[in-house]
Amino acid sequence: MSAPLSRIRGGAHASIRHDSAAGHVTGAALYLDDVPSVPGSLESALVLSPHPHARIKNIDVSRALAAPGVAAVITAVDIPGKNDIAPIRSDEPLLAAGIVEHEGQIVAAVAAMTLDQARAAAKLVSVEYEVFEPILMLEQAIERENFVAPPQQMVRGDVEAALSSARHRLSGEFACGGQEHFYLEGQIAIATLGENRDIHVWSSTQHPTEVQHGVAHLLGIPFNAVTVEVRRMGGGFGGKESQPTIVAGIAAVLAWKTRRPVKLRLSRDDDMRATGKRHPFLFRYDVGFDDDGAIKGLDLLLAANGGHVADHTPAVMTRALCHSDNCYWLPAVRFHGLSCKTNTVSNTAFRGYGGPQGMLGIETIIDIVARHLGLSLEEVRKRNFYGAERNNVTPYGMTIEDNMIEQVIDDLDRSVDLKAWREDVIAFNKTSAVIKKGFATMPVKFGISFNRPALNQAGALVHVYMDGSVTLNHGGTEMGQGLFIKVAQVVAETFQIDIDNIRITATTTGKVPNTSPTAASSGSDLNGMAARNAAEQIKDRMADVAADHFNVPRAEIVFSANRIYAGNRSISFAELAALSWEKRVSLSATGFYRTPKVHWDMATSSGRPFYYFTYGAAAAEVAIDTLTGEMRVLRAEMVQDCGESLNPAIDLGQIEGAFVQGMGWLTTEELVWDEKGRLRTHGPSTYKIPGSRDVPPVFNVRLLQNAPNKEETIFRSKAVGEPPLMLALSVWLAVRDAISSLSDYRLSPMLDAPTTPDRILAAVDEMIERCQLR
Ligand code: MTE
Ligand code: MOS
Repeated sequence: MSAPLSRIRGGAHASIRHDSAAGHVTGAALYLDDVPSVPGSLESALVLSPHPHARIKNIDVSRALAAPGVAAVITAVDIPGKNDIAPIRSDEPLLAAGIVEHEGQIVAAVAAMTLDQARAAAKLVSVEYEVFEPILMLEQAIERENFVAPPQQMVRGDVEAALSSARHRLSGEFACGGQEHFYLEGQIAIATLGENRDIHVWSSTQHPTEVQHGVAHLLGIPFNAVTVEVRRMGGGFGGKESQPTIVAGIAAVLAWKTRRPVKLRLSRDDDMRATGKRHPFLFRYDVGFDDDGAIKGLDLLLAANGGHVADHTPAVMTRALCHSDNCYWLPAVRFHGLSCKTNTVSNTAFRGYGGPQGMLGIETIIDIVARHLGLSLEEVRKRNFYGAERNNVTPYGMTIEDNMIEQVIDDLDRSVDLKAWREDVIAFNKTSAVIKKGFATMPVKFGISFNRPALNQAGALVHVYMDGSVTLNHGGTEMGQGLFIKVAQVVAETFQIDIDNIRITATTTGKVPNTSPTAASSGSDLNGMAARNAAEQIKDRMADVAADHFNVPRAEIVFSANRIYAGNRSISFAELAALSWEKRVSLSATGFYRTPKVHWDMATSSGRPFYYFTYGAAAAEVAIDTLTGEMRVLRAEMVQDCGESLNPAIDLGQIEGAFVQGMGWLTTEELVWDEKGRLRTHGPSTYKIPGSRDVPPVFNVRLLQNAPNKEETIFRSKAVGEPPLMLALSVWLAVRDAISSLSDYRLSPMLDAPTTPDRILAAVDEMIERCQLR
């Protein structure tokens, strides 16, 4: 019994554009600051600490309160519930209480009739401080064992024995910097009180449920009194996982106090000073290896600068440890992770969530090993790749069942001829005195699922109306990554109706409760499955109605191309929806999904934290000017495994964006704090994110073809949001290669990330000096 083979528009795997593509470019897509404010609404502004470490002796708000238009000024004592918004450990005050621990920490907030009035009044809040000595450097924090969370260990085998018996042994230290998310839409929230204790919060958040919990704790009310809603963010990148609770929390406390709607939108400078960033890491390694580059033992210390509170730091560290193997079998290994506390703003989730730092660590070590032995990076990697049948267990005890490392590298090689490319670069350097080129490849294996098993669940809510139109809601949030269109495609495919029939709606804690953050790249995996589960329940009921209607066995009913068939008889989806109502059959369902197979033991840092891995490979060519330290990325080529992509057009955009964002982290984006602990780079004039002209002039992205996920993910797709960011490590390695060319590729440069012109210049000078000494 087969229905006609005509296709629906926008089903699974269709390359269709983002649902808000036109809205994004015309300005029609509404962001929170575009929502017209209700009469009587207040605007607000923050009072930030000028000191990185101090005791608050006294706060005088009287002048601010008397200023024009001011409705309220709040400090820690005005919080009716608990002054704690920590997402993981309980240590994070919303408003500084007694002590400030970083420059830019929020001490007070002001609500006034207009934004100008609020900002002017904030300057009138006078705070007396007793200033203390801050800890600003990661090294200091390591030395003093100043931590935001306990150290983490991941150990396999006898590392000491392996190190001392290896033919070669090297040790050293290097570091990478943090990164500001620089979402185009800054942090913002609007809080409005309802009847009784009810409060509604619009929040630009990846984690509505956490905002709900935060607001409830701050106000001392139950979760069901707080509704949090988000239609879209103008970018989140991890910066809107825990940080929005700060902004929403302040708006909520101000609204509670004034009984009026309050909006809080941070200026870019306040946003950069008061909210968290990617973690800078320091690496100390001791590696033992054979003549052929096979790594026998690795003892690696990873120290993350967590800033002043724990926030996401311990979880970021766990993911860093879980990616410090990248693609390599390490027989004897000790990863030691320190979550350090300094008097800088708390660092938080950022695309890759520790994975990029973990991979930077191991790849830099392999680069150092390769140069020491006079082998190519690729040769040494090949010696150490995980096997398919043996040497396939990670240091955290997970067996890799879907190893595609060499497959993606071969695929890249077939499309660009890596050997010829490298030879061209070497040949160029022979005749070029000042400009030196560098070339490097980069393989990526990234684990998909939240390390913490409980977070790997999702819910959805689907309604079919009597005219056959469908409303879709789920726990995932849209931040530009295309989650909403992907989940809508899943529902279109399940019902076999055109995607135009499906209305995408704002995420709200009132429709789908107890949600996980949209993070860990798992948005479409989790919410796609939950939405399919909801749609299938309704479809099942509708199929029964159709079977009755056509008087055929249930098994003969087929949904296809907007119609429902029984042999050659058929009715439209809309007709069946109306008929179902007539028959008093429910056309609404909630769906649920939990990821199978995952488990994790925090005490031993072991388990199967990931449902599967995604793979990718990249190659990059850079040129450096050895007289000025300037650098350009000339060409980047990459292949990314997306399984059977849910939407190749969206995935392509994700890969391009992630690569360029990763490039920014590794090359131009530098956060600078002065000796007084003040962030000096708190706006676009001093903090350089990649612009369109930084995109490599030759930039080719391909999705790996015919590579369905071995696990039963939604239509056999794979997650894509974060993994390609790490492909940009090819640029980091290529810059090192360019500098190393000055020693005829014998020596490893002394270089930290980001590779700003001054760092490149210093590394070039140091390299030349070392060569002359030889
Ligand atoms: N893409 C855009 N355009 N904007 C974003 O904020 N965030 C990234 C990635 N891609 C982001 C993005 C991050 S950090 C994650 S975890 C994923 O998207 C989250 O969405 P997903 O799980 O639906 O992939
Ligand atoms: Mo992404 S850092 O997991 O929000």
